[in-house]
Amino acid sequence: MNTLKKFAIGLAALALPSVASAEEYRLGLITPPPHQWTVSATEAAAEIKEKTDGRVDILLFPSGQLGNESQMLQQLQTGAMDFAFFTLGEFANRDPNYGIFLAPYLVDDVAGARELLKGPTAQKLLDNMSNFGLVGFGWGMAGMRIIVTGPKVEKIEDLKGKKIRTIPFAPELAFWEALGAAPTPMPLPALYDAFANGQVDGMQIDVEGTWNTKYYDHAESIIISNHMMFPMAAIGSGRKWQSIDEKDRAVIDEVFARKLDEMVGKYAEIDAKYKADLETTDVDVTTVGREWFGPAIDAWYEDWRVKAPMLVELEAETKK
Ligand code: BEZ
Repeated sequence: MNTLKKFAIGLAALALPSVASAEEYRLGLITPPPHQWTVSATEAAAEIKEKTDGRVDILLFPSGQLGNESQMLQQLQTGAMDFAFFTLGEFANRDPNYGIFLAPYLVDDVAGARELLKGPTAQKLLDNMSNFGLVGFGWGMAGMRIIVTGPKVEKIEDLKGKKIRTIPFAPELAFWEALGAAPTPMPLPALYDAFANGQVDGMQIDVEGTWNTKYYDHAESIIISNHMMFPMAAIGSGRKWQSIDEKDRAVIDEVFARKLDEMVGKYAEIDAKYKADLETTDVDVTTVGREWFGPAIDAWYEDWRVKAPMLVELEAETKK
């Protein structure tokens, strides 16, 4: 190939967009393909593509293919990626008010969580996503949190000194420390191996993931505590959002909001189905309530009502 031609090809390559063509967008999330977050994202992307006549084609990158949430947040802020489904971790570490949904036993069940996620405090936190250079589309969730442990655990004292995998954010770490456990932050994609090789003794996790990722393979106890709701934020890059046509934005907004609410609605059934599946294994599955955790929960509330004042507003919504 002559030098001129090589130069022309080089120039053409430089002119190509680095990630995707004008109508292709990237949505990143840490859950694997079978998880409901990924399923709902796939359905939303298909509907958005259809309703925008192909102008908005959202490609999915599950299982942390675009990086962990901290790396993805940076990409969203620079406009290098476009959409994401996130846990609360990155937000709660920047503003403690985003951690309030994880208040232990704030709600009894998925129905209670669904109400709160559509309430005024949740909406305010969604609107405040602009502080991070993001657009918030709505709240989803991953059901209620349970505890899965390698060694047998029957009473709260059995958790003392145990390394319990958590998401690395302050309210969750504080909860486990108050219980005398050793909270061990770890990203979801690393969890299976860490549990299998004994790097952690247990985890707080969702019922769905416990079944689909087979954490029960290495467990002696599954404690259905339903002690926290576990919200998910559907977000977009504020920079990219500006470049999308107004009528396509309206479609994206509407489809995400509806799909997320549907997702949350499904979780009562999803949690019940996977709990029943887990009961078919050899692992001990027990159900416990707030009293099982002892006084640590009241102490947690006293502390976090001060650290995250929006918690008080959220608690008031549960009493309406
Ligand atoms: C977790 O890190 O525990 C998690 C993240 C997303 C969905 C479900 C669980």
